[in-house]
Amino acid sequence: MKSIVIYFTQSGTTKNAAEKIASKTNSKIVEMTSKDDYPGDFDDLVAKAKEQIDNDERPTINEDFDLSDYQTIYLGFPIWYRQPPMIIHSFFDKFDLKDKSIIPFITSASSGFSVCTPYLNNMKTNAKIKDGFRSNSDLEIKNALN
Ligand SMILES: Cc1cc2nc3c(=O)[nH]c(=O)nc-3n(C[C@H](O)[C@H](O)[C@H](O)COP(=O)(O)O)c2cc1C
Repeated sequence: MKSIVIYFTQSGTTKNAAEKIASKTNSKIVEMTSKDDYPGDFDDLVAKAKEQIDNDERPTINEDFDLSDYQTIYLGFPIWYRQPPMIIHSFFDKFDLKDKSIIPFITSASSGFSVCTPYLNNMKTNAKIKDGFRSNSDLEIKNALN
């Protein structure tokens, strides 16, 4: 069964983790980007992320991934405000994930994976969302995938 790694990143940490996960799991890897421009300046980015949460926004995803070949999707994103970025809601809205398993992975400054569990549990999706993991370090990735 084929698997794919889809990741969203702002400053590259999640990309780095995604590449390691793709290589360990023999998965295709693709980046998910948003039509919304995220500011490079940290304070502006923090403000933008907060605004998207407060307005319950669904930032538009640029890519139209063909996921028909893949049964397992590793979905990577940074933790923003102790939750997934709003583009992760957009992902579940946009794609038909029937019969697919999603394995989420996060990177964060310090938050553990569990901060985003309530949000993932409430996503409107027909996918099966499996237990996820934090992926900042090689050890975390190794422990999760072995
Ligand atoms: C807007 C914003 C909010 C953040 N909120 C959290 C948080 O709640 N908990 C945490 O541990 N890290 C938080 N961080 C840090 C990021 O999760 C961390 O740096 C992540 O690895 C960045 O991934 P990226 O390089 O793939 O964008 C936040 C960063 C930003 C920009």
